[in-house]
Amino acid sequence: MRKLGKKILGLALAATMVMGVATGCGKKNDKSDASGGSSKGGSSEVQVGVVLPTKDEPRWLQDQKQFETILSDAGFTNQVLFSQGSSATERTNVETLISKGIKVLIICPQDGPAAAAAVEEAKQAGVKVIAYDRLITGTESVDYYVTFDSFAVGAAQGQYLIDNAPAGSGIPLYLYAGAATDNNAFVFFEGAWSVLQPKIADGTFVIANSSEAEKLSDKAELSRDEIGKIIGQITTDWDFNVAKSKAEANLTATKKNLKGDVVILAPNDGTARSIADVFATDKDVTSYVITGQDSEKASVQYIIDGKQSMTVFKDTRTLAADSVAMAVSLLEGKEPVTDTTYDNNKKEVPAKQTSIVVVTKDNVKQALIDSGYYDSSDFSGLE
Ligand code: BGC
Repeated sequence: MRKLGKKILGLALAATMVMGVATGCGKKNDKSDASGGSSKGGSSEVQVGVVLPTKDEPRWLQDQKQFETILSDAGFTNQVLFSQGSSATERTNVETLISKGIKVLIICPQDGPAAAAAVEEAKQAGVKVIAYDRLITGTESVDYYVTFDSFAVGAAQGQYLIDNAPAGSGIPLYLYAGAATDNNAFVFFEGAWSVLQPKIADGTFVIANSSEAEKLSDKAELSRDEIGKIIGQITTDWDFNVAKSKAEANLTATKKNLKGDVVILAPNDGTARSIADVFATDKDVTSYVITGQDSEKASVQYIIDGKQSMTVFKDTRTLAADSVAMAVSLLEGKEPVTDTTYDNNKKEVPAKQTSIVVVTKDNVKQALIDSGYYDSSDFSGLE
């Protein structure tokens, strides 16, 4: 409760700061845009460009909404473009924004290493680059990084499984992860492993679907290569169809003794719903506990209906406001506020990190409705 209050206060301050600093920076006439994204502002010049991975996941539509509101309210000319799962489209988007004269690029890469070339081009054009939510790796051309505490996301998911698993030992644990091209997938898994590994080593959980994870079950800390091997087996590619077929294949291959009451590490809400649907229809699975993240509306409904156990609320209002506040500092020639650094294999990228909130049936109303993120009319059966 206190944490949430602080966050809202922080957001209000960031928004006020942005509004105060940016008054007069641009005109506020909305303009339609042929590129599939959206453009706001009165002149053809765009000051701040935003590139997001895909329109096909509700998560990124939330970010789009926050950016458009915050940037336009602040009087910035801005444009939000989507890469639709393609690094080539992402590169074209960045080039389009450079040609429109952006001074700051806020970009969430489709593929962390592949985005290096695009941001190098932006950098050469004198644009300041802020990586948003996902780190861009293997390049010096990322100036700043704005992120949620992704290690904490994974640790919260793992801890939820531990706290809500059936009593006893030998409980089957099914592991799923995000896309190997997304640095976050590694960080989420690392966080989850940090709490799950002792419970695997002491026999509370038995890994049901990854021989690579089984091989490493005595190791508290894994190298990136080791996590990569596990992700190679359990990746969903952040795609709910891949998640569904992987869960089906796992349950087909698994013997009855690894069914019954099970726990499932699902990396995000979209994949969690697919995986939960598959487990719900297997007659040998008697109960399941399953994680998620993003607080997507459909998953909030699943939680209310008892079909998904938890989600992690990552308040996109805070993340968008933080990156816009950073953009304001950069446009003013000031050093943005950061509170940590992330190693991207080429440099320690100065970063601003935001905390996360675990959401279950018990606090869904308080966390998501009372905070103004969603409207209670979006859901049925909410008490
Ligand atoms: C984000 C998650 C999102 C996932 C799939 C990750 O990088 O942090 O919030 O669910 O990508 O788009």
